[in-house]
Amino acid sequence: MGRQRVLSGVQSTGELHLGNYLGAIRNWVDGQSHYENYFFIADLHAITVPHNPKRLAENTRTLAALYLACGLDLEFTTIFVQSHVPAHTELTWLFNCITPLNWLERMIQFKEKAIKQGENVSVGLLNYPVLQAADILLYQPDLVPVGEDQKQHLELTRDIATRFNFQFASPKQPVFKIPEPLIRPTGARVMSLLDGTRKMSKSDPAELSRINLLDPPDQIRNKIKRCKTDPIRGLTFDNPARPECDNLLTLYMLLSGKSKAAIATECQDMGWGQFKPLLTEVTIAALKPIQDRYQAIVQEPSYLESVLRQGREKAAAIAFSTLKQAREALGFSTPL
Ligand code: TYM
Repeated sequence: MGRQRVLSGVQSTGELHLGNYLGAIRNWVDGQSHYENYFFIADLHAITVPHNPKRLAENTRTLAALYLACGLDLEFTTIFVQSHVPAHTELTWLFNCITPLNWLERMIQFKEKAIKQGENVSVGLLNYPVLQAADILLYQPDLVPVGEDQKQHLELTRDIATRFNFQFASPKQPVFKIPEPLIRPTGARVMSLLDGTRKMSKSDPAELSRINLLDPPDQIRNKIKRCKTDPIRGLTFDNPARPECDNLLTLYMLLSGKSKAAIATECQDMGWGQFKPLLTEVTIAALKPIQDRYQAIVQEPSYLESVLRQGREKAAAIAFSTLKQAREALGFSTPL
């Protein structure tokens, strides 16, 4: 039996933050040698909210370089750009025509983002999860590693695949594999540094709410110094009345590599003045190798281009073969 296939992506809006890293990319890297992996840069999703055309391609390149800098290894992994494989948009259209509107109106992320944008909400924002379903189902993956906030989009993806197979394929020969989400228990929901009840997010206008992977040490120091805490001495995990405390201890645990029990003992009598410098130093140390590798990769633009070109070729072949089956199942005539 071959290796299981894994696929996931990150939207190329703004910089990668610790939530993206700990909730998704670090897990991709850790598991990659066990699977056949496809990781892409979701640049089509990046234009579902107002964007700057002058920055779009640059953001895509930055993200691709960060994928490599975080440790994705081309021996196990194919890296590509979503918009370089036109099958994503074509399958989206086919899915649009079989997806009930009310499935999309229920999506939490749509409702949250739509509130922020008032009258300017695009059809693309509503349609976002259908594009995500196409991204996934084109590659027939077994597993999709994501953070907690993508769970609902993954459920919708499974619903779309099931509906398509039921309506247009025979049970013995389904067109789409039904993928499983892979959500790790720790790190799946990293919270904002300014409010432990809200997730760390690229779209939060407050820069101080998140630590980006490319933040220089001084900025990391400043953000941790100014992050929200509480007036209680003695730091503990899992106290719902102290969400910031739980989040910061979890970050410390994940970035230091120490166990939860070890951190609980180490920090049980600490005050914030003692804890914050420790968290600062482990964060800076954990990000340094990523930042160093990133600098080396961006020195060589032709290398990055060749990675993405080869990635596109490999991804496009798989995507086209699935798209062909979907077109045939829906009854389209085959182009000559
Ligand atoms: P995006 O770009 O918002 O986030 C990328 C990945 O990071 C995870 N994540 C978090 N994990 C823990 N704590 C947080 N605060 C946090 N914030 C983000 C996300 O769960 C995600 O795994 N729609 C997707 C991109 C996408 C995609 C796909 C993913 C497009 N097509 C197909 C998987 C498969 C998104 O916007 O993720």
